[in-house]
Amino acid sequence: MAKTATTFACTSCGQASFRWMGRCPGCGEWNTLVEGAARTRADERVAGRAGRALGRRSKAAEPRKPVVLAEVESGAVERLRTGSDELDRVLGGGLVPGSVVLIGGSPGIGKSTLMSAALASIQSAGGRALYVSGEESAAQVKLRAERLGAHALAVPVLAETSLDVVLASLELERPQACVIDSVQTLWSAELTGAPGSVGQVQEVAAALERFARERGCAIILVGHVTKEGTLAGPRVLEHAVDCVLQFEGERERSFRTLRALKNRFGSTNEIGVFEMRAGGLDEVADPSDRFLRDAEPVAGSCILCAMEGTRPLLVEVQALVAPTDVVPPRRVANGIDRNRLSMILAVLARHGGPSLGSADVFVNVAGGVRIEEPGADLAVAMAIASATRDEPLSGSGAPSGCFGEVGLTGELRYVAHADRRLEEAARFGLEQIVLPARCGNDELSAAARSLAVPAPTLAKALDAALGDRAGRSRAA
Ligand SMILES: Nc1ncnc2c1ncn2[C@@H]1O[C@H](COP(=O)(O)OP(=O)(O)OP(=O)(O)O)[C@@H](O)[C@H]1O
Ligand SMILES: [Mg+2]
Repeated sequence: MAKTATTFACTSCGQASFRWMGRCPGCGEWNTLVEGAARTRADERVAGRAGRALGRRSKAAEPRKPVVLAEVESGAVERLRTGSDELDRVLGGGLVPGSVVLIGGSPGIGKSTLMSAALASIQSAGGRALYVSGEESAAQVKLRAERLGAHALAVPVLAETSLDVVLASLELERPQACVIDSVQTLWSAELTGAPGSVGQVQEVAAALERFARERGCAIILVGHVTKEGTLAGPRVLEHAVDCVLQFEGERERSFRTLRALKNRFGSTNEIGVFEMRAGGLDEVADPSDRFLRDAEPVAGSCILCAMEGTRPLLVEVQALVAPTDVVPPRRVANGIDRNRLSMILAVLARHGGPSLGSADVFVNVAGGVRIEEPGADLAVAMAIASATRDEPLSGSGAPSGCFGEVGLTGELRYVAHADRRLEEAARFGLEQIVLPARCGNDELSAAARSLAVPAPTLAKALDAALGDRAGRSRAA
């Protein structure tokens, strides 16, 4: 087959060029030229004729009446269940037929394991699944499937990297769900770029997306993550697909979290928690229990009542404060945003907490989870204050916790779902939960109210949790 001519276009300004250049002649940006298939003369002629014909016809064309949305016919969409409640919840209730999902994660985190298990469930529930492996041979995929169980061996696998062959096979097999592992290994013969280059990845994703839309097949693209932690390949891929999932965790630990960065068919707040075992990825139905198992009421530890989507989640936030002569002192944050930590340290220094200008501060969310909600601020501040004073937050042995956003003026700001957070805390036998005063106005159940210690400001919250122990009674 004759190679299609290619052109290079700047991703920043759109300038076209017939050869690759390091710097775009149009806008002067570096490394922005990517390869794409050029339109041939014949294409141009066809497009030109169609355009002119459209122009002539446009005056005579019959106008069409727009339809009110309520009257648009739409069949109920039957989602494909993946057999994993955690994955289904993050997807918004299962895979939508005809949609394209991109799942990214660092090497060895378990992307292929998760996808193999999902296809196995779809296949054993009577659906048609297909696993396209560009990275591993069929024998390697089989080895993994053997770990997952007999039902995983029923999934048909295609070890192939040519886009044309994959598309032809998809057309023949017509699967309901197909995993492409990974999108960076497929290559289109129409482009000269190496597999995984920006142009190739765009072309591969666009062709697969067309197939998904036309044939109603749910396609899951597995993508690599760069050193910086972002999905490799062009960011345009994230715009083109319907759902972007991020699979993360620390490789040395067994917990993995799955979260949606974008979802056209569901919320992006949900997380799924998994544990890597010899037999594959187990769902963790009660993550609070797993994350709190080792929590002890010691100095520098604070329990955060977080909300991840529709689920309350208790996690332990730990802090270590150590004097240092290094300037500037070190600020290390694992599981929370580093900028957020800097802000909390500044608010602590200004509004009643310790001033830590000559101390290293390390903050860690135990279990390798990452917490993104602002309700975590108070727990970080409490853990740091407790570590600085070398005093645990609870006097009587049972651990205590908190939640709330810390404002720049030292006030505690309202966060939603106080009732559900408190009920989860009650379930785990926590002693007291410090929360923003405004959350105390919410409708709280009796069990939740008995735990709540509302505080209007960060200084008052620190007093309530760490202040004069004798005066710190529930009545106060
Ligand atoms: N017998 C086993 N017991 C426990 N965990 C295992 C076992 N075998 C493999 N694993 C885990 O599975 C991981 C590999 O899973 P998988 O191949 O699904 O990852 P991946 O994200 O697809 O990797 P890649 O980026 O290389 O494609 C390993 O890093 C390891 O943590
Ligand atoms: Mg893999």
